[in-house]
Amino acid sequence: MDHQLPIVETGEQTNPAKGALHLLWRDESATQAFAVQLAAQAALAHAFITLHGDLGAGKTTFTRHLLQALGITGRIKSPTYAIVESYEAEAFPIWHFDFYRFNDPQEWEDAGFRDIFASPGLKLAEWPQKAEALLPAADLDIALQTQGETARSVTLTAHTPRGTALLQALAAQQAPGACP
Ligand SMILES: Nc1ncnc2c1ncn2[C@@H]1O[C@H](COP(=O)(O)OP(=O)(O)OP(=O)(O)O)[C@@H](O)[C@H]1O
Ligand SMILES: [Mg+2]
Repeated sequence: MDHQLPIVETGEQTNPAKGALHLLWRDESATQAFAVQLAAQAALAHAFITLHGDLGAGKTTFTRHLLQALGITGRIKSPTYAIVESYEAEAFPIWHFDFYRFNDPQEWEDAGFRDIFASPGLKLAEWPQKAEALLPAADLDIALQTQGETARSVTLTAHTPRGTALLQALAAQQAPGACP
């Protein structure tokens, strides 16, 4: 698989210095290629990443590719029912949340979510808007929009210095001059 070509930077709106990067993933192999690039970033280890996008946009699919690129083997379940699934990467723990069904703020305390967000490790959250009042600010937000069956337009937004560092490193890796 060619890791350069499938991720297309969409050009004029992209400005990592201002904290946003626009990409087009033409198909799932491009989603995977980007996941591989993100997995290679040292700043990912303790990051909090939120994932926005409609049902079926590809939030879980992207997370699966990211976790596999981080060395997680075996089944990576969608956490829609459990709300959180946890993993141990070689160097740090990972928590994959899906707050779609989250509706009891008491669960935040009871299920130990507060402790998770206070711990080192990578946290990813689908449907963060359903727990907005409780969640800390994300380092990086990834918003996916379906463009036909296999393409996804992607907006990455940084909200912290760690997120900005990730964004700038990722922007530097996109194929220069590539246009859709
Ligand atoms: N470029 C792409 N990137 C990601 N997924 C893609 C892409 N092209 C097609 N798909 C398909 O789109 C579907 C995305 O489903 P997925 O469960 O990841 O969505 P989701 O955003 O997690 O939805 P939900 O909100 O229900 O959790 C999968 O069937 C995946 O194979
Ligand atoms: Mg999902």
